[in-house]
Amino acid sequence: MKSVQSNIKKAKKYLDKNLCIAIPTETVYGLAGNAYSKTAVEKIFNLKKRPKNNPLIVHYYNINNLRKDCYINNDFIKLYKKFSPGPITFVIKLRKSSKISKLVTNKQNTLAVRFPKHPLFRKLLKQLSYPLAAPSANISSRLSSVKASDVSEEFGSKVKFILNGGRSQIGIESTIISLIKEPTILRLGGIDIARIRRAIKKKVLIKINSKKKIVPGQSHLHYSPGIPLRINVKKPLKGEAFVLIKKRKISYKNYFYLSKNNNLKHAAKNLYSLLRKIKKDGYKMIAVEKIRNSGIGKSINDRLIRASKF
Ligand code: TXA
Ligand code: MG
Repeated sequence: MKSVQSNIKKAKKYLDKNLCIAIPTETVYGLAGNAYSKTAVEKIFNLKKRPKNNPLIVHYYNINNLRKDCYINNDFIKLYKKFSPGPITFVIKLRKSSKISKLVTNKQNTLAVRFPKHPLFRKLLKQLSYPLAAPSANISSRLSSVKASDVSEEFGSKVKFILNGGRSQIGIESTIISLIKEPTILRLGGIDIARIRRAIKKKVLIKINSKKKIVPGQSHLHYSPGIPLRINVKKPLKGEAFVLIKKRKISYKNYFYLSKNNNLKHAAKNLYSLLRKIKKDGYKMIAVEKIRNSGIGKSINDRLIRASKF
């Protein structure tokens, strides 16, 4: 317990100095900095090598902290009550008077906000006098990090402090929904759209492949393990790492399980770390068998399709 407190204290010290650190969330690790500070936000973009026109998600402890930065509407309240804290990000209208750095939003008048569930991250947020801008803790277009050692692999000593919160429980990024006009899903993620539809009781549009590329999570090359990946594979090619969703007898020797019993939640949790491991093991190609396209399986398939555009 004592070390938890002292780590949070340390994290706060860095953040108060407008430095960025890595933080654990239930989806993936984030690279966090004071969202009100241009200096801190600039560091995030530079470290990630992220194009400046790709806005960041801002993380709040709760709705009260958000009110001074954003306008909230009924759709937001409904979904907030049902799913926050949790793996959902809302795009809502930013107040002109907000102190959020213009760099966060690329000068747009909307803001992506999220209320993370990870207890350690929540403890930290509660002690800060500002919200945290935090994109996923990886170099732009690569696989997100789901544990502290992934973050070290991505950034080496450039990230001065990692608040270690163990393995991310969900393993893929939050679902993003825009509530500016009609509710519109911009990125598939940790929360199933069917649940969102039920909670909001109205039509929910899906625009996850927008030509305008509002969300670079929508861009073609993304979530890339850095080697070619094929999907819906029945038979692997010689030398390919074969990724399976269900245990079975198999004569091919280079196989790996995402889940042993076709459990999509387990598969999501294991996805990025397995792809990282396969690359590290020295494989040059990955083949993934067909994954059921329901629930979080849709989000897994979304990531795999994008990763396959390498
Ligand atoms: O689970 C998550 O959401 C993780 C954890 C760390 O919270 N964060 C994350 O951030 O995935 P990032 O930066 O890797 O992805 C955020 C996505 C980007 O694709 C960005 O374009 C989009 O959110 N985004 C940010 N602000 C937006 C806005 N105002 N309108 C539309 N899309 C926005
Ligand atoms: Mg990302």
